[in-house]
Amino acid sequence: MEWKDNSVIMIDQTKLPNSLEFVTFTDFNQIADAIRTLVVRGAPAIGVSGAFGLALAALQSDAEEKNDLISYLENAKNVLFETRPTAVNLAWGLEKIMEVANQATTVEEIRTRVVETAKKMAEEDIQTNMSLGKNGSELFNDNDTIMTHCNAGALATVAYGTALGVIRATKESGKNIKVIATETRPVQQGSRLTVFELKHDGIDVSLIPDTAVGYTMANGLVNGVIVGADRILQTGHVFNKIGTYQVAIMAKQHNIPFYVAAPLSTFDLESNPEDIIIEQRKASEVTGIGDKKTAPDGVDVINPAFDMTPPELISGIITENGIAKPPFQESIKELFAPN
Ligand code: MRU
Repeated sequence: MEWKDNSVIMIDQTKLPNSLEFVTFTDFNQIADAIRTLVVRGAPAIGVSGAFGLALAALQSDAEEKNDLISYLENAKNVLFETRPTAVNLAWGLEKIMEVANQATTVEEIRTRVVETAKKMAEEDIQTNMSLGKNGSELFNDNDTIMTHCNAGALATVAYGTALGVIRATKESGKNIKVIATETRPVQQGSRLTVFELKHDGIDVSLIPDTAVGYTMANGLVNGVIVGADRILQTGHVFNKIGTYQVAIMAKQHNIPFYVAAPLSTFDLESNPEDIIIEQRKASEVTGIGDKKTAPDGVDVINPAFDMTPPELISGIITENGIAKPPFQESIKELFAPN
Protein backbone atom coordinates (compact mmCIF):
# COMPACT_ATOMS: atom_id res chain seq x y z
CA MET A 1 0.00 0.00 0.00
CA GLU A 2 1.47 3.32 -1.03
CA TRP A 3 0.68 7.04 -1.20
CA LYS A 4 1.78 8.42 -4.56
CA ASP A 5 0.88 11.63 -6.42
CA ASN A 6 -1.99 12.38 -4.03
CA SER A 7 -3.56 8.98 -4.51
CA VAL A 8 -3.50 5.62 -2.73
CA ILE A 9 -2.24 2.53 -4.52
CA MET A 10 -2.90 -0.94 -3.16
CA ILE A 11 -3.05 -4.58 -4.23
CA ASP A 12 -6.57 -5.83 -4.93
CA GLN A 13 -6.50 -8.83 -2.57
CA THR A 14 -9.74 -10.24 -3.96
CA LYS A 15 -7.89 -11.05 -7.19
CA LEU A 16 -5.09 -13.06 -5.53
CA PRO A 17 -3.62 -15.55 -6.20
CA ASN A 18 -4.90 -15.63 -9.79
CA SER A 19 -3.69 -12.19 -10.72
CA LEU A 20 -1.65 -9.45 -9.08
CA GLU A 21 -3.57 -6.25 -9.75
CA PHE A 22 -3.07 -2.80 -8.30
CA VAL A 23 -5.90 -0.32 -7.78
CA THR A 24 -5.57 3.46 -7.42
CA PHE A 25 -7.94 5.52 -5.30
CA THR A 26 -8.45 9.30 -5.17
CA ASP A 27 -11.71 9.39 -3.18
CA PHE A 28 -12.24 8.35 0.44
CA ASN A 29 -15.50 6.61 -0.55
CA GLN A 30 -13.47 4.28 -2.78
CA ILE A 31 -11.28 3.40 0.22
CA ALA A 32 -14.40 2.71 2.30
CA ASP A 33 -15.68 0.36 -0.43
CA ALA A 34 -12.29 -1.32 -0.66
CA ILE A 35 -12.32 -2.05 3.10
CA ARG A 36 -15.93 -3.28 3.01
CA THR A 37 -15.32 -5.66 0.09
CA LEU A 38 -11.94 -6.99 1.34
CA VAL A 39 -9.92 -5.45 -1.50
CA VAL A 40 -7.80 -4.46 1.49
CA ARG A 41 -8.11 -6.42 4.74
CA GLY A 42 -6.15 -7.26 7.85
CA ALA A 43 -6.25 -5.07 10.95
CA PRO A 44 -3.07 -2.96 10.49
CA ALA A 45 -3.71 -2.57 6.74
CA ILE A 46 -7.22 -1.24 7.29
CA GLY A 47 -5.90 1.08 10.03
CA VAL A 48 -3.49 2.71 7.57
CA SER A 49 -6.11 2.61 4.79
CA GLY A 50 -8.46 4.59 7.04
CA ALA A 51 -5.72 7.18 7.63
CA PHE A 52 -5.04 7.40 3.87
CA GLY A 53 -8.81 7.70 3.30
CA LEU A 54 -8.91 10.78 5.54
CA ALA A 55 -5.87 12.19 3.75
CA LEU A 56 -7.77 11.86 0.45
CA ALA A 57 -10.82 13.47 2.05
CA ALA A 58 -8.71 16.45 3.16
CA LEU A 59 -7.60 16.96 -0.46
CA GLN A 60 -11.07 16.32 -1.92
CA SER A 61 -12.85 18.91 0.20
CA ASP A 62 -13.08 22.43 -1.24
CA ALA A 63 -13.47 23.93 2.27
CA GLU A 64 -11.81 27.29 2.81
CA GLU A 65 -12.38 27.51 6.56
CA LYS A 66 -10.97 25.20 9.22
CA ASN A 67 -14.42 24.38 10.67
CA ASP A 68 -15.78 23.35 7.28
CA LEU A 69 -12.82 21.10 6.58
CA ILE A 70 -13.10 19.49 10.04
CA SER A 71 -16.82 18.76 9.44
CA TYR A 72 -15.98 17.23 6.07
CA LEU A 73 -13.32 15.06 7.73
CA GLU A 74 -15.70 14.05 10.55
CA ASN A 75 -18.19 12.82 7.97
CA ALA A 76 -15.48 10.92 6.06
CA LYS A 77 -14.28 9.43 9.35
CA ASN A 78 -17.79 8.10 10.09
CA VAL A 79 -18.13 6.58 6.62
CA LEU A 80 -14.74 4.86 6.97
CA PHE A 81 -15.36 3.79 10.58
CA GLU A 82 -18.61 2.02 9.73
CA THR A 83 -17.02 -0.25 7.10
CA ARG A 84 -15.86 -2.98 9.50
CA PRO A 85 -16.50 -3.18 13.25
CA THR A 86 -14.10 -5.66 14.85
CA ALA A 87 -10.49 -4.60 14.20
CA VAL A 88 -9.54 -1.75 16.52
CA ASN A 89 -6.74 -0.45 14.26
CA LEU A 90 -9.27 1.28 12.00
CA ALA A 91 -10.56 3.49 14.83
CA TRP A 92 -6.96 4.03 15.96
CA GLY A 93 -5.86 5.26 12.51
CA LEU A 94 -8.88 7.52 12.09
CA GLU A 95 -8.59 9.07 15.56
CA LYS A 96 -4.88 9.75 15.10
CA ILE A 97 -5.55 11.68 11.89
CA MET A 98 -8.46 13.64 13.42
CA GLU A 99 -6.25 14.66 16.32
CA VAL A 100 -3.65 16.09 13.93
CA ALA A 101 -6.35 17.85 11.88
CA ASN A 102 -7.88 19.44 14.97
CA GLN A 103 -4.50 20.71 16.19
CA ALA A 104 -3.69 22.49 12.91
CA THR A 105 -4.86 26.08 12.48
CA THR A 106 -5.37 26.70 8.75
CA VAL A 107 -6.90 24.55 6.00
CA GLU A 108 -3.53 24.41 4.23
CA GLU A 109 -1.86 23.24 7.43
CA ILE A 110 -4.54 20.58 7.98
CA ARG A 111 -4.10 19.21 4.45
CA THR A 112 -0.30 19.09 4.69
CA ARG A 113 -0.18 17.62 8.18
CA VAL A 114 -2.88 15.01 7.55
CA VAL A 115 -1.14 13.71 4.43
CA GLU A 116 2.27 13.70 6.15
CA THR A 117 0.90 11.88 9.20
CA ALA A 118 -0.82 9.18 7.13
CA LYS A 119 2.40 8.60 5.16
CA LYS A 120 4.36 8.40 8.43
CA MET A 121 1.89 5.87 9.85
CA ALA A 122 2.47 3.67 6.81
CA GLU A 123 6.25 3.87 7.23
CA GLU A 124 6.02 3.20 10.98
CA ASP A 125 3.86 0.13 10.39
CA ILE A 126 6.75 -1.52 8.56
CA GLN A 127 9.28 -0.66 11.29
CA THR A 128 6.89 -1.91 13.97
CA ASN A 129 6.42 -5.23 12.20
CA MET A 130 10.16 -5.67 11.81
CA SER A 131 10.68 -5.01 15.54
CA LEU A 132 7.95 -7.39 16.66
CA GLY A 133 9.18 -9.95 14.14
CA LYS A 134 12.65 -9.82 15.70
CA ASN A 135 11.22 -10.13 19.21
CA GLY A 136 9.15 -13.16 18.22
CA SER A 137 11.94 -14.90 16.31
CA GLU A 138 13.57 -15.85 19.63
CA LEU A 139 10.61 -18.12 20.45
CA PHE A 140 11.24 -20.55 17.61
CA ASN A 141 14.03 -23.08 17.07
CA ASP A 142 15.96 -24.37 14.12
CA ASN A 143 13.91 -26.94 12.16
CA ASP A 144 10.59 -25.92 13.74
CA THR A 145 7.35 -26.21 11.81
CA ILE A 146 5.08 -23.27 12.62
CA MET A 147 1.35 -23.28 12.00
CA THR A 148 -0.46 -20.06 11.09
CA HIS A 149 -4.12 -19.25 10.48
CA CYS A 150 -5.63 -16.61 8.16
CA ASN A 151 -3.26 -14.02 6.71
CA ALA A 152 -1.33 -11.81 9.09
CA GLY A 153 1.36 -11.07 6.57
CA ALA A 154 2.59 -8.26 4.35
CA LEU A 155 -0.86 -8.18 2.76
CA ALA A 156 -2.57 -7.62 6.13
CA THR A 157 -0.22 -4.74 6.95
CA VAL A 158 1.73 -2.16 4.95
CA ALA A 159 4.56 -4.67 4.55
CA TYR A 160 6.43 -7.53 6.34
CA GLY A 161 3.45 -8.66 8.44
CA THR A 162 2.79 -9.48 12.08
CA ALA A 163 2.55 -13.28 12.45
CA LEU A 164 4.32 -13.70 9.10
CA GLY A 165 6.72 -10.95 10.20
CA VAL A 166 7.81 -13.27 13.03
CA ILE A 167 8.13 -16.13 10.55
CA ARG A 168 10.18 -13.92 8.17
CA ALA A 169 12.44 -12.71 11.01
CA THR A 170 12.96 -16.27 12.25
CA LYS A 171 14.07 -17.32 8.77
CA GLU A 172 16.26 -14.20 8.43
CA SER A 173 17.95 -15.08 11.75
CA GLY A 174 19.35 -18.17 10.01
CA LYS A 175 16.93 -20.78 11.37
CA ASN A 176 15.54 -23.36 9.03
CA ILE A 177 11.75 -23.36 9.44
CA LYS A 178 8.68 -24.73 7.74
CA VAL A 179 5.17 -23.32 7.81
CA ILE A 180 1.77 -25.00 7.82
CA ALA A 181 -0.98 -22.62 6.68
CA THR A 182 -4.67 -23.32 7.18
CA GLU A 183 -6.84 -22.47 4.18
CA THR A 184 -9.08 -20.32 6.46
CA ARG A 185 -12.58 -20.76 5.12
CA PRO A 186 -14.78 -19.01 4.14
CA VAL A 187 -12.75 -16.37 2.27
CA GLN A 188 -9.53 -18.37 2.19
CA GLN A 189 -7.07 -15.77 3.31
CA GLY A 190 -4.75 -18.67 4.18
CA SER A 191 -4.65 -20.43 0.83
CA ARG A 192 -5.07 -17.35 -1.36
CA LEU A 193 -2.87 -14.91 0.54
CA THR A 194 -0.58 -16.53 3.12
CA VAL A 195 0.57 -19.28 0.78
CA PHE A 196 0.97 -16.74 -2.05
CA GLU A 197 3.16 -14.52 0.15
CA LEU A 198 5.31 -17.28 1.61
CA LYS A 199 5.90 -18.98 -1.72
CA HIS A 200 6.82 -15.58 -3.18
CA ASP A 201 9.47 -15.24 -0.44
CA GLY A 202 10.77 -18.80 -0.87
CA ILE A 203 9.58 -19.95 2.56
CA ASP A 204 8.69 -23.66 2.80
CA VAL A 205 4.89 -23.78 3.25
CA SER A 206 2.31 -26.57 3.22
CA LEU A 207 -1.39 -25.84 2.90
CA ILE A 208 -3.93 -27.80 4.97
CA PRO A 209 -7.70 -27.75 5.09
CA ASP A 210 -8.94 -26.13 8.32
CA THR A 211 -10.20 -29.54 9.38
CA ALA A 212 -6.65 -31.00 9.42
CA VAL A 213 -5.40 -28.88 12.33
CA GLY A 214 -6.04 -31.71 14.83
CA TYR A 215 -4.48 -34.32 12.55
CA THR A 216 -1.25 -32.39 12.00
CA MET A 217 -0.89 -31.59 15.71
CA ALA A 218 -1.70 -35.12 16.88
CA ASN A 219 0.88 -36.50 14.46
CA GLY A 220 3.69 -34.29 15.77
CA LEU A 221 3.91 -32.13 12.66
CA VAL A 222 3.60 -28.77 14.49
CA ASN A 223 6.05 -27.21 16.99
CA GLY A 224 4.30 -23.89 17.54
CA VAL A 225 1.42 -21.73 16.35
CA ILE A 226 1.49 -18.04 15.54
CA VAL A 227 -1.49 -15.90 14.52
CA GLY A 228 -2.22 -12.18 14.20
CA ALA A 229 -4.98 -10.27 15.96
CA ASP A 230 -7.68 -7.76 15.19
CA ARG A 231 -8.24 -6.65 18.79
CA ILE A 232 -6.55 -7.56 22.07
CA LEU A 233 -8.06 -6.62 25.41
CA GLN A 234 -6.29 -5.70 28.65
CA THR A 235 -7.28 -9.13 29.97
CA GLY A 236 -5.46 -10.90 27.12
CA HIS A 237 -8.62 -11.92 25.26
CA VAL A 238 -7.73 -12.00 21.56
CA PHE A 239 -10.18 -11.38 18.71
CA ASN A 240 -8.92 -12.80 15.45
CA LYS A 241 -10.12 -14.49 12.26
CA ILE A 242 -12.82 -17.10 12.74
CA GLY A 243 -11.31 -20.47 13.59
CA THR A 244 -8.45 -19.08 15.69
CA TYR A 245 -10.22 -20.25 18.87
CA GLN A 246 -10.43 -23.83 17.57
CA VAL A 247 -6.74 -23.82 16.63
CA ALA A 248 -5.84 -22.52 20.12
CA ILE A 249 -7.87 -25.24 21.87
CA MET A 250 -6.26 -27.89 19.70
CA ALA A 251 -2.78 -26.49 20.50
CA LYS A 252 -3.54 -26.62 24.24
CA GLN A 253 -4.69 -30.24 23.93
CA HIS A 254 -1.38 -31.17 22.28
CA ASN A 255 0.89 -29.00 24.49
CA ILE A 256 1.93 -26.85 21.56
CA PRO A 257 2.74 -23.17 22.32
CA PHE A 258 0.21 -20.75 20.84
CA TYR A 259 1.45 -17.20 20.18
CA VAL A 260 -0.24 -14.02 18.98
CA ALA A 261 1.72 -11.27 17.17
CA ALA A 262 0.30 -7.75 16.93
CA PRO A 263 1.37 -4.11 17.19
CA LEU A 264 0.32 -1.97 20.18
CA SER A 265 -2.25 -0.29 17.88
CA THR A 266 -4.25 -3.57 18.03
CA PHE A 267 -4.79 -3.30 21.81
CA ASP A 268 -8.07 -2.00 23.21
CA LEU A 269 -7.45 -1.35 26.90
CA GLU A 270 -10.95 0.03 27.53
CA SER A 271 -13.41 -2.66 26.43
CA ASN A 272 -14.66 -5.89 27.99
CA PRO A 273 -15.08 -9.11 25.96
CA GLU A 274 -18.88 -8.72 25.78
CA ASP A 275 -18.56 -5.17 24.32
CA ILE A 276 -16.89 -6.30 21.10
CA ILE A 277 -18.98 -6.47 17.95
CA ILE A 278 -18.23 -9.56 15.90
CA GLU A 279 -18.71 -8.79 12.22
CA GLN A 280 -21.24 -11.07 10.50
CA ARG A 281 -20.55 -11.44 6.81
CA LYS A 282 -22.75 -12.40 3.90
CA ALA A 283 -24.10 -15.92 3.47
CA SER A 284 -22.70 -16.29 -0.04
CA GLU A 285 -19.17 -16.54 1.41
CA VAL A 286 -20.25 -19.86 2.94
CA THR A 287 -22.68 -21.18 0.35
CA GLY A 288 -20.08 -21.08 -2.40
CA ILE A 289 -16.39 -21.05 -3.18
CA GLY A 290 -15.59 -18.27 -5.60
CA ASP A 291 -18.38 -18.33 -8.18
CA LYS A 292 -19.19 -21.99 -7.58
CA LYS A 293 -22.25 -22.81 -5.48
CA THR A 294 -21.59 -25.46 -2.81
CA ALA A 295 -24.84 -25.35 -0.80
CA PRO A 296 -28.54 -25.47 -1.66
CA ASP A 297 -30.36 -22.18 -2.24
CA GLY A 298 -32.10 -20.68 0.75
CA VAL A 299 -30.07 -22.44 3.46
CA ASP A 300 -29.70 -20.47 6.71
CA VAL A 301 -26.09 -19.47 7.33
CA ILE A 302 -24.14 -18.29 10.37
CA ASN A 303 -21.00 -16.51 9.15
CA PRO A 304 -19.08 -14.67 11.90
CA ALA A 305 -15.79 -13.21 10.64
CA PHE A 306 -14.01 -13.37 14.01
CA ASP A 307 -13.92 -15.30 17.27
CA MET A 308 -12.43 -14.72 20.70
CA THR A 309 -9.56 -16.75 22.12
CA PRO A 310 -9.39 -16.55 25.94
CA PRO A 311 -6.06 -15.79 27.65
CA GLU A 312 -5.68 -19.25 29.21
CA LEU A 313 -5.04 -20.69 25.73
CA ILE A 314 -2.31 -18.16 24.84
CA SER A 315 1.40 -18.69 25.59
CA GLY A 316 2.53 -15.17 24.71
CA ILE A 317 1.60 -11.96 22.86
CA ILE A 318 4.44 -10.58 20.74
CA THR A 319 4.61 -6.82 20.18
CA GLU A 320 7.18 -4.21 19.14
CA ASN A 321 7.67 -3.43 22.85
CA GLY A 322 8.38 -7.02 23.86
CA ILE A 323 6.51 -10.24 24.61
CA ALA A 324 3.68 -10.30 27.14
CA LYS A 325 3.42 -13.61 29.01
CA PRO A 326 0.64 -14.80 31.33
CA PRO A 327 -0.76 -13.41 33.57
CA PHE A 328 -1.67 -10.88 30.87
CA GLN A 329 -3.40 -8.29 33.08
CA GLU A 330 0.04 -7.38 34.43
CA SER A 331 2.27 -8.05 31.43
CA ILE A 332 0.07 -6.10 28.97
CA LYS A 333 0.12 -3.11 31.32
CA GLU A 334 3.92 -3.23 31.26
CA LEU A 335 4.00 -3.10 27.45
CA PHE A 336 2.43 0.35 27.63
CA ALA A 337 4.45 1.63 30.61
CA PRO A 338 6.78 4.49 29.70
CA ASN A 339 10.44 3.39 29.79
O1 MRU B 1 -11.34 -10.45 7.70
P1 MRU B 1 -9.90 -10.11 7.57
O2 MRU B 1 -9.21 -10.83 6.48
O3 MRU B 1 -9.65 -8.62 7.56
O4 MRU B 1 -9.35 -10.69 8.90
C1 MRU B 1 -8.45 -10.03 9.63
C2 MRU B 1 -7.21 -10.70 9.53
O5 MRU B 1 -6.50 -10.55 8.58
C3 MRU B 1 -6.85 -11.66 10.55
O6 MRU B 1 -7.72 -11.84 11.55
C4 MRU B 1 -5.42 -11.52 10.96
O7 MRU B 1 -5.08 -12.70 11.56
C5 MRU B 1 -5.14 -10.35 11.84
S1 MRU B 1 -4.67 -8.94 10.96
C6 MRU B 1 -2.94 -8.96 10.96
